[in-house]
Amino acid sequence: MNLPFKYGKIIEDDFFVNRTSELDYLKRNIKSKINLTLISPRRWGKSSLVSKIARDMTKDEKNIKFCFIDLYNVRNEEEFYNYFATEILKASYSKWEERIENAKLFFKQILPKFSFGLDPNQEFSISFDWESVKKNPQEILDLPEIVSKTKKIQLVICLDEFQNLSYFDEPLNFQKKARAAWQKHQHCSYVLYGSKRHMMAELFENKSMPFYKFGEIILLSKIETQHWQKYIQEKFKSTKKNISPELAEILIQKVENHSYFVQQLANAVWLEANKTCTKDDIDNALEKLLLQYELFFSKEVDGLSNLQLNLLKALAADEKELSGKKTIKKYNLSSSASVNRSKEALIQKEIIDTFEKKIEFIDPLFKIWINNTYNRKL
Ligand SMILES: Nc1ncnc2c1ncn2[C@@H]1O[C@H](COP(=O)(O)OP(=O)(O)O)[C@@H](O)[C@H]1O
Ligand SMILES: [Mg+2]
Repeated sequence: MNLPFKYGKIIEDDFFVNRTSELDYLKRNIKSKINLTLISPRRWGKSSLVSKIARDMTKDEKNIKFCFIDLYNVRNEEEFYNYFATEILKASYSKWEERIENAKLFFKQILPKFSFGLDPNQEFSISFDWESVKKNPQEILDLPEIVSKTKKIQLVICLDEFQNLSYFDEPLNFQKKARAAWQKHQHCSYVLYGSKRHMMAELFENKSMPFYKFGEIILLSKIETQHWQKYIQEKFKSTKKNISPELAEILIQKVENHSYFVQQLANAVWLEANKTCTKDDIDNALEKLLLQYELFFSKEVDGLSNLQLNLLKALAADEKELSGKKTIKKYNLSSSASVNRSKEALIQKEIIDTFEKKIEFIDPLFKIWINNTYNRKL
């Protein structure tokens, strides 16, 4: 059965909601070769947005080519260079013969090694001797510019989960080298995006860090209710079911407009509903989802100290003055210093993230679960 809603990673056009102003703004900047940094908490829609931009622009602009580099699984600098060079050559030349031929022209100081699979155009990779790259990474870092110039195209290098380079052995040293090379590039441009507000802020907004002012910073916000509403109603309609705008709104609000979870809950509600969606369908669907995550959430709570859990309860209840005397007393938070420590710990554990001065639950279902489990009894 084809389900009408989609959640997971990157979504195709049929499931893509709004973001028209972001699309317009980002495309204009990319066209002008302005480097961009895109930040939001996990699963709000960064990767989907950049991928949509690439699909649209590849259709419309003959000379722009996108290259995607996801740092999610890249844990050290050596891996980075091999992967970076491989993806750039793959994105720029469709045939493996061309990739080799050009790589031989581009790399003069370091010797590339090529590997192939059964289908050499698909399974192609390039690697370098780490000792030589350590001494001379320049040719690899400059590859986007050289390729763009040689091919008379604009390569748009999209680096996803960019905050992961903080895990490299010498992150600052790497950032300095990358920044020094990339800021000179005239023919290609960069889109750097990632989650974890604190890590991205440290990389881009701290004056003493190499990537400070590297590009335009965009904080991606949530998709507004009206757009979700329209989408959910259309999807129901196209599958011969229906949902009222009021119920669609309730569904969206339950998960606080969080992209991934709106799609997930909408799907669960759609499965629950007969022809016409009722309020009970929403409640039941939510109940089932929470049940599905019960074990996971209890485990998450087991890993928290009492103070951290108490703070989480206060956050789930949308308490505004966390360090206020009343809140500290009501939730047993000890002191405002301990509130801060617990907050940092919850951010480290990736349970919450701060975004545009607000604290957001990374998983809105966890927030509901905390409220159901603890706060109803308060
Ligand atoms: N513009 C959008 N329209 C509809 N759903 C979206 C949109 N952006 C994100 N989503 C939903 O959220 C999920 C996670 O999006 P993703 O792009 O992977 O987020 P991020 O890169 O910020 O972690 C997608 O699989 C999809 O279900
Ligand atoms: Mg992503």
